Amino acid sequence: MFPVASLLTILILPLLIAGSAIEVGNSPITLSIARRLDFSDGPINLLQHDKARVAALKNSSSKDHVGSAPLTNFAVGYVAAVHVGSPAKTYSLIVDTGSSNTWVGAAAAYVKTSSSVNTGQPVSVIYGSGSFSGTEYTDTVSFGSGLTITKQSIGVASTSIGFTGVDGILGLGPEGLTKGSLINSPTTTIPTVTEKLHSEGIIPEMVVSVSFEPTKSRTVTNGELTFGGTDATKYTGSIAYTPVTTEYPASTYWGINESITYGSTTILSSNAGIVDTGTTFLFIASDAYTRYQSATGASLDTATGLLLISSAKYKALKNLDFHIGSETYTLTPNAQIWPRSLNTYLGGSSSAIYLIIHDIGTPSGEGFDFINGYTFLERFYSVYDTTKSRVGFAKTKYTDATTN
Ligand SMILES: *[C@@H]1O[C@H](CO)[C@@H](O)[C@H](O)[C@H]1NC(C)=O
Ligand SMILES: *[C@@H]1O[C@H](CO)[C@@H](O)[C@H](O)[C@H]1NC(C)=O
Repeated sequence: MFPVASLLTILILPLLIAGSAIEVGNSPITLSIARRLDFSDGPINLLQHDKARVAALKNSSSKDHVGSAPLTNFAVGYVAAVHVGSPAKTYSLIVDTGSSNTWVGAAAAYVKTSSSVNTGQPVSVIYGSGSFSGTEYTDTVSFGSGLTITKQSIGVASTSIGFTGVDGILGLGPEGLTKGSLINSPTTTIPTVTEKLHSEGIIPEMVVSVSFEPTKSRTVTNGELTFGGTDATKYTGSIAYTPVTTEYPASTYWGINESITYGSTTILSSNAGIVDTGTTFLFIASDAYTRYQSATGASLDTATGLLLISSAKYKALKNLDFHIGSETYTLTPNAQIWPRSLNTYLGGSSSAIYLIIHDIGTPSGEGFDFINGYTFLERFYSVYDTTKSRVGFAKTKYTDATTN
């Protein structure tokens, strides 16, 4: 068994009064979350998990069949401590913007308490690298004092595959992704935790904001999740918003339009893709990937499956610019490489330089041309706004930092 990393990070949940975006008091509600690297399948599972997730995310659009939903990669993730029941038991749940069902019972069994109500509905979600099935309950869900939802629908797993060391998922994606998860009501959707926080008047808007920070180690990372607003201490400048894309299938997720350039070379013309906390690498359509590989002079490394560059080519690397709305978000050369201190976790050589851009496996123009995963989100603050159907980004003090 490999130890599960337990990186304590802080999750700030500003308490917001319904109707006004006022943060109550000077003591935000915090809960610790862990950034987790799972090596239970051996060291080289990150890319494989990502690829399985990517394939299922793209294909889940064709998911009119019962029980299908996006897949999730949980080799790397942020885990929130979520309290369920009365008295509450605490579960470690993966923070996932790419899926929307919240469920427990993978590692630690669900404990029925006085607030647990079995709805009798079978529930199941199939993820690319795992699945769960069980029964729907409603229960009290809390993120700390003050942020308590009553009668939240949760899945209680009787079986689950692919979730070593975590208890389930905190689903932060759009409600539509829950369609099909209730086996006997295939057209029914389940209000998400974000929607329930709003409908119970606990947050003024259905907004979730995420702060990730680059890390060189398995064991020290700060991440922060804010429900109902944004945390101005976590970004610089202002947040720019872009509408959720109308292009299918990206439109079923937190999907946006963007174009990508490398120096003066166009890598991807404006197309739709998604923003996803549950994907580790940055995926782009195959033709865009080929252009990026050619422009950087990188070679495909067979040991890791990642693009590899020499230090001379690294020194010559140019900015990779993401054009979203009227803004440009730049990944500097250093932001385009995997942290070298984590190379061996990918099965790579400790002195090699690997790029974080990977091939989505299908050509551009299919409505799913990129996934801005964790390696993008650790450089930009991100905001997922259900109320206004938009996604926001802002720079942070880590945007241009040399950390890798
Ligand atoms: C996509 O999903 C459909 C329906 O579940 C399945 O038949 C098909 O094989 C999947 N395609 C890929 C590329 O996974
Ligand atoms: C996104 O791109 C598609 C395809 O080019 C276009 O139809 C759409 O208007 C764009 N904007 C949004 C918000 O979807």
